[in-house]
Amino acid sequence: MTSVRLPENVTQAAKWVRDRLGEIPQRGIVLGSGLGVLVDGMTSARDVATEEIPGFPPSTVVGHAGRLVAGELDGVPVLALKGRVHGYEGYSQEQVVFPVRLMAALGVTHLLLTNAVGSINRLYHPGDLVLVEDQINLMFRNPLRGPNDPEMGPRFPDMSASVCSEMASIVRDAARDLATPLRVGVMGGVTGPSYETPAEIRTLGRIGADIVGMSTIPELIAARHIGLCAVPISCVTNYAAGISAQQLDHSEVTEVAERARGVFRTLVVEVLRRC
Ligand code: HPA
Repeated sequence: MTSVRLPENVTQAAKWVRDRLGEIPQRGIVLGSGLGVLVDGMTSARDVATEEIPGFPPSTVVGHAGRLVAGELDGVPVLALKGRVHGYEGYSQEQVVFPVRLMAALGVTHLLLTNAVGSINRLYHPGDLVLVEDQINLMFRNPLRGPNDPEMGPRFPDMSASVCSEMASIVRDAARDLATPLRVGVMGGVTGPSYETPAEIRTLGRIGADIVGMSTIPELIAARHIGLCAVPISCVTNYAAGISAQQLDHSEVTEVAERARGVFRTLVVEVLRRC
């Protein structure tokens, strides 16, 4: 994995982080909205504020603490990013995928991406966990736009398996063994920050999306580009617009994500342990 050539600003940031955190675990996790609690109670933790990392785009979202933490989660070594960067904050796609490339430069080989999503599929309900098997990029942007370094990854990466199948199997097996209910679905990725309209959600449902979210898609593309094994697990925090009569509110998203944390944390630890 580390054999690919990553951009200069990424390798410099990695050196900066390594100087401060020491040995870096090979398993990584990116924590979505309200999901920072998934890594509460980490032991032997060393951390840095992401805003101090050279080149790291500063996070502006409530509920995202902005820390990169190396430590152990129930005995499993993990590098955790609390505070991902979203396109709706005004960043370029290249900035959005900086943390994923940084984690790869630090030696992470398996990356779990968590996020909060709205459900479109009527069988999925708030609190459900969904293994994302495939994605529809409705952000109409791509983090690989621009000159391509063939030493980093292919110009036209194959996306027929954007999600790492090895990790997806681990997620399925871990959920089965823990008797954790797990849905499997396709994620539609939108830019936000406004939530979708009911007509948009009906459209997304018709083209095959089970869930909708404002992150993760660029990260998966960037991971695939450099051969980093990555898989998303989403937490349904709300019915998407028009699926229920309820109005959408970000506080509901963080509240539901926090309520799902016990089950989610157990699954996350087991997946990371098996990677
Ligand atoms: N739409 C888009 N992104 C989201 C949603 C939603 O309903 N809920 C959480 N993230």
